[in-house]
Amino acid sequence: MQVLVLGAGYVGMATGVTLAYLGHDVVLVDIKPERVAAIAAAQSPILEPGMDAMLGEVRASGRLSATTEAGPAVAAADVVFIAVNTPPDASGDANMTFVQAAAVSLGQHLDPTHPVVIVNKSTVPIGSANLVKSWVEDGLHSTHPGTPANGTFTVASNPEFLREGQALSDSLYPSRIVLGTDVPWAMERLQALYAPLIAQSFPAPASVPRPAGFLAPVPVAATDRVSAELVKYASNAFLATKISFANEIAAICERVGADVTQVMAAVGQDPRIGSQFLDAGVGWGGSCFGKDLSALMHTAREYGLEPVLAAAAVEVNRRQRRWLVQRLQATLKTLKGRRVAVLGLTFKPGTDDLRDSPAETVLADLTRLGARVVAHDPVATEAAAQAWSYPVEYVNHVDDAIAGSEAVLLVTAWPEYAALDWVRAHESMERSLVLDGRNLWSPDVLRPLGIEYYSVGR
Ligand code: NAD
Ligand code: UGA
Repeated sequence: MQVLVLGAGYVGMATGVTLAYLGHDVVLVDIKPERVAAIAAAQSPILEPGMDAMLGEVRASGRLSATTEAGPAVAAADVVFIAVNTPPDASGDANMTFVQAAAVSLGQHLDPTHPVVIVNKSTVPIGSANLVKSWVEDGLHSTHPGTPANGTFTVASNPEFLREGQALSDSLYPSRIVLGTDVPWAMERLQALYAPLIAQSFPAPASVPRPAGFLAPVPVAATDRVSAELVKYASNAFLATKISFANEIAAICERVGADVTQVMAAVGQDPRIGSQFLDAGVGWGGSCFGKDLSALMHTAREYGLEPVLAAAAVEVNRRQRRWLVQRLQATLKTLKGRRVAVLGLTFKPGTDDLRDSPAETVLADLTRLGARVVAHDPVATEAAAQAWSYPVEYVNHVDDAIAGSEAVLLVTAWPEYAALDWVRAHESMERSLVLDGRNLWSPDVLRPLGIEYYSVGR
């Protein structure tokens, strides 16, 4: 099929590259010329394992191109994905400006004789499919006055569940595919588009191997549009709540002297609960959990419904992000002038994404309290220095952050931090205090060296 993908970020890149790999002809569109130029040169504009290799393959096969101008490719497209950003707005709802611009421009370039399925892949507030339909109609009527929308295009919802750092693996080997439309020809076309993925009939790319035991067919949830939109918000809200629950139990563990890792490991052995997303730490972050919970709560409140559970998950997370600095204050008492090393800036390991990272909360609090902060991240120091305005020294080697510090605070559990040489680190520190916000290190290793060591809920 001819596929157009608007937005070449994490979701657009993964969608476009996956569909091209499955044999479709894909045009990727982004308003940022540098992203388009990178894709044309077979270099991924985002950091994702396997992306450069797969992008190189689909570029070489001629099945994927990139442009800043969607126009000419719209008329030929069988399916168009809207995968643009939907950042939070001041009210807590999702900002639909980018979606609106994309939808109006799509409408302007539609060919009324060639029906197309327009897919909301971006995470959009409940009911947005209708909104997108009206915006596409606005565009269509500006170029083809009087053309009926029905028969020219239909809007479906196909939410995305990929995780950053595993975007291609999650796209090629998804837990499920949710297709939200009441229009039979649109459902048939989307089922056909995804057929090789559902059947897993493609050879696994060398750079993104099929997980052991992964079973075909991939489940397809065929739903109405509003239900599909709500599946996305409910999934993210549940995952965030699961982590907040583990963090609340961690706080209780600290009071009663239990070990949260032992507790949650055994809790998770119940298959009704499941072992994933029960790691206590300094809270969840990223571009979506906070934004999507906020949008879900906003929707509930539009109907006079107070979203008690989602609000509690957010509140626990807010409290949890303060854990490191509160622990530091409890130990060092005053922070003014203290040299503190912060390890990890991205919102989780394996990504270059800094959006809503717990590290930003930590840097903001530490600098406000007068600490001298030296920060390290394996991939994101330069981006952090640009994105954030805190008076922080960013260093490119972790040893330079640790040397001379009075405390080491771990925010993001990058694998290279797991392998730190604590004998050397201990010798180079001004005072050996280590606050492990991700339960990465072992007290049995650090404490015998004379390091004062604290971790979350242990
Ligand atoms: P992103 O910011 O990485 O990428 C969005 C891209 O869209 C940007 O490159 C931007 O320049 C481009 N863009 C904006 N307006 C455009 C237009 N009119 N035409 C063409 N391109 C345009 O965003 P993302 O992380 O890929 O997220 C996209 C959407 O998917 C969001 O709604 C997000 O909530 C959702 N989502 C994200 C993830 C994730 O892990 N990042 C997972 C599931 C769902
Ligand atoms: C999350 C969801 O997992 C995806 O399914 C969803 O598609 C995506 O949001 C989205 O809608 O954007 P992502 O944001 O990439 O994916 O990251 P996760 O792996 O879910 O981690 C989110 C945060 O939770 C990170 O800060 C991570 O450190 C934290 N986390 C995760 C914990 O604190 N404990 C855990 O047990 C798991």
